[in-house]
Amino acid sequence: MRKGSHMDHGDRFSQPPSAPQAWLFVFVALRSGTETEYQALTKRAYRVRAMFFWALLLLVTPVMLYSMSDLPYDAQGDAPRSRGATQVIEVVGHQWHWRLSHDQVAPGQTVEFRVSSADVNHGLGIYDRDMKLVAQTMAMPGYVNRLRHTFEREGVYKLLCMEYCGLVHHAMFAEIRVAATDKQPGNTP
Ligand code: CUA
Repeated sequence: MRKGSHMDHGDRFSQPPSAPQAWLFVFVALRSGTETEYQALTKRAYRVRAMFFWALLLLVTPVMLYSMSDLPYDAQGDAPRSRGATQVIEVVGHQWHWRLSHDQVAPGQTVEFRVSSADVNHGLGIYDRDMKLVAQTMAMPGYVNRLRHTFEREGVYKLLCMEYCGLVHHAMFAEIRVAATDKQPGNTP
């Protein structure tokens, strides 16, 4: 019995160090190295890091300022003014139909859709005859979202609801006709 316990003891000492023990050895080894040398190294590393930070800031700042000066939103807002008179269509979403102030516009002139809702949130999607989405915005109660679009091609465009709004959501659609008429003053070819 005594012999057994002795062997146990010896086995424990011959085992390799566990992970925490290994880290402790490394830590002690680092601490025991000349303290001043270690501090000088740390100081130099900090200095390099600070220089790297300022260099990065110098590099990034002009790029950020340049990218901010050319926001696309501004260009979009300017476009209609150069395209002549703006045609306005008031659009109100209802469960489950669209009410439009009128449904005929001229091609080549900017149309401003003023979109709202009488009940819940709807999504206004405008599709051309190939059922390709050409413009979209949300119809929300209490808000008027302005969506500007210039229809270049004549034809019938579909207004569909793009936001699930209840039982008959899928059948919520309207049409607008894009056609040149004599009454429109801005019909330049
Ligand atoms: Cu309205 Cu979906």
